[in-house]
Amino acid sequence: MRIKELKQVFDEEQIRTRVADLAAEISALYDGEALVAVCVLKGGFMFFSDVIRRLEGPQVEVDFVRLASYGIAATSNRTISFVKDVELSLAGKHVLVVEDIIDTGHTMDFLLRQFAARGAKSLRLAVMVDKQERREVPVNADFTGFALPGGFIVGYGLDYAERYRELPAIFEVIPEY
Ligand code: IMP
Ligand code: MG
Repeated sequence: MRIKELKQVFDEEQIRTRVADLAAEISALYDGEALVAVCVLKGGFMFFSDVIRRLEGPQVEVDFVRLASYGIAATSNRTISFVKDVELSLAGKHVLVVEDIIDTGHTMDFLLRQFAARGAKSLRLAVMVDKQERREVPVNADFTGFALPGGFIVGYGLDYAERYRELPAIFEVIPEY
């Protein structure tokens, strides 16, 4: 794909405001309890670091996972596996997964099932961008930054072929036809 332009969809100020609101919502929900915040690499890294630094109240431990997806995108024949698992035990803990995007839902369906089997006290999902209309398997986020119907976006942690993750805002990739 040749890129014609990057069209901004959420600017830095919108992201900052939304992240602050989400952090307040999350802080209120855990109300001073201990929490394991799990960042889904690589895409979640910027959103994760912005959210957790604004949490007030919960005693936070952080950990990281990286997942790989094989098979044909846009079919349900997808196999997800861990490239890197968390290092902390999740048993008896409140666990908050922090992901960049939920698209078809396959990735988070896999991760949440895996984590649910580890005896967490609670398991919740915070997502920066939810593309609800593209779901192939049902997955619901407990905390959502922004909703989008579709389109491929980059920046603020998100990549296209490993590029643009460092951009401070979120852009839609407009291809050349
Ligand atoms: P799902 O399993 O289809 O929900 O896949 C979600 C994963 O695909 C996300 O964790 C992203 O890494 C990636 N992804 C989906 N849509 C986009 C996008 O618009 N930009 C960048 N990555 C995306
Ligand atoms: Mg991802």
